[in-house]
Amino acid sequence: MKITILTLFPEMFTNVFGTSMIWHAQDIGAVEIELINFRDFSTSKHKKVDDASFGGGPGMLLSVEPIFRALQSIQGLETAHKILLTPQGEPYVQDTAKRLAKMDHLILICGHYEGFDERVRTLVDQEISIGDYVLTGGEIGAMAIVDSVSRLLPGVLTSDESFEQDSFYNGLLEYPQYTRPRSFMGMDVPEVLISGNHQEVEKWRREQALKRTQERRPDLLKNADKKD
Ligand code: ADE
Repeated sequence: MKITILTLFPEMFTNVFGTSMIWHAQDIGAVEIELINFRDFSTSKHKKVDDASFGGGPGMLLSVEPIFRALQSIQGLETAHKILLTPQGEPYVQDTAKRLAKMDHLILICGHYEGFDERVRTLVDQEISIGDYVLTGGEIGAMAIVDSVSRLLPGVLTSDESFEQDSFYNGLLEYPQYTRPRSFMGMDVPEVLISGNHQEVEKWRREQALKRTQERRPDLLKNADKKD
């Protein structure tokens, strides 16, 4: 998969993409990440990318032209899936990550400051929000998308780390897990997990995942019903 990111702050991505699973995904060739600073596509003398809002109002808006030109420079633009990061977008959930992981080329456009010229919206296929709060820009959202999508690509996780057990993967939160010691400050590992009875362990885990989801995120259970 190829992921192209349009941003005014490419340096924000250096550590995140050079570390852990995202680095591994690139290292094995599962994903290729390209960063484009769309300031380079400004035609103004001072490389300006924003301007005041027509009709007045505080703050500056990102102009449509530098973003349009940056997009035009990308090979395979027509077939790529173009995403705008914005708090007005559809909420990003694990199902979105699964859908995006099947695509060949994603383009993520990160805004910054007060917002975009409305016409930027006409350049994309989808708008995504990573949560109901306002970030300074789309970069952290783009990192969240790249991380969650990369780990779903074939060969990135080993079978030990497989994402099938992840919270949300089957629409439920993950069951509780324990490692050594068996007893810590009076809190013991549940007997069933040391019983060696795999069927019983599986049954307990299924029950616990349901219980935990019911307690913490009953909204997920309602959605799981709708899916089937
Ligand atoms: N840009 C600013 N806030 C955002 C959010 N919540 N999700 C995605 N992009 C954003």
